[in-house]
Amino acid sequence: MKTIELDRPATPDDAALWRDSDLLLLDQRLLPHEEKFIHCESAADTARAITDMVVRGAPAIGVTAAYGVVLAARGAWRETGSGWKRAMTDDLYRLAAARPTAVNLGWAINRMKALAQTLADDQEPEPALLAEARSIHEEDISANHTLGDLGASLIGDRTSVITHCNAGALATGGYGTALGVIRSAWRAEKLARVYADETRPWLQGSRLTAWELAREGIPVSLLADGAAAARLAAGGVDWVIVGSDRIAANGDVANKIGTYSLALVARAHGVKVMVAAPTSTIDMNCPSGADIPIETRDASELLGCGGKTVAAEGAEAWNPVFDVTPAKLVDAIVTEKGIILSPDAKKLRQHMA
Ligand code: MRU
Repeated sequence: MKTIELDRPATPDDAALWRDSDLLLLDQRLLPHEEKFIHCESAADTARAITDMVVRGAPAIGVTAAYGVVLAARGAWRETGSGWKRAMTDDLYRLAAARPTAVNLGWAINRMKALAQTLADDQEPEPALLAEARSIHEEDISANHTLGDLGASLIGDRTSVITHCNAGALATGGYGTALGVIRSAWRAEKLARVYADETRPWLQGSRLTAWELAREGIPVSLLADGAAAARLAAGGVDWVIVGSDRIAANGDVANKIGTYSLALVARAHGVKVMVAAPTSTIDMNCPSGADIPIETRDASELLGCGGKTVAAEGAEAWNPVFDVTPAKLVDAIVTEKGIILSPDAKKLRQHMA
């Protein structure tokens, strides 16, 4: 995969860019210090970029996979012509298997597959599939603006909030989910400060969330993940606001490892928990959090930091990268369709009907 630089500075909206028939992914592993893009020439490149965390965040992975399907179809058409649908099957599996927890990935691929089924075998598939991928991208941005404003309406007096990981423009098609709420609340002058957990081991909080907020002038203070409890105990924080990788049909929420402990501590201190996510993150086929596949990544990601080993030799590591927060610890799920207070299976069913 080629690395390229744009002729302009990168922005948080650049997570996945389709430019002149090319898929460019802002390499989030290098932010905030370097703004380089990975050029994906095939579906296999795209799947690798997702697995390797070039692009991350559930909706951004979905958008990227949709463009990956365009590349799969392009390759299959060039290779086999009218046999393109069958010829791209392996690529679609590869894309779907790139990461297991974010349901947006499978959701976007299924939507692209459904569109592909409507096309004739002898029709060049790229234009129609590209239009669908662009729609998925644009709809995600629009959903985030809607849910951002809805979430901000829940925030009362001028207050501070805590967020975990990065659920910003970088993690989505644009604007962000948790950071969408935060952006809307900031514009409505309801926010004093954002506390961002640094989010070990990939440091999405200190590298990505802080980058997004600081460049917009939104006051942001980083917290070591273990400091969140003390910050909530100290008062002045009314909401924990996070995104999600998959919300089960009963309202249980999978999100970045550490979200569960943050939600427990928030409940202990009377601080409310808001989960901001588009409906593409809700998996009605997944009955409860126990059914959500949780990704475990290589121990080396935890044993080191910034490319250097920091753990004592001989130490092993358990490195699940998501956890499940039970619905009973969630005060509100906010989607582009509305607000679900104290979520449960019945309310989720009504919301998705
Ligand atoms: O491992 P990551 O960086 O892909 O994890 C991302 C998260 O956990 C986000 O909070 C989640 O995907 C929501 S993004 C709008």
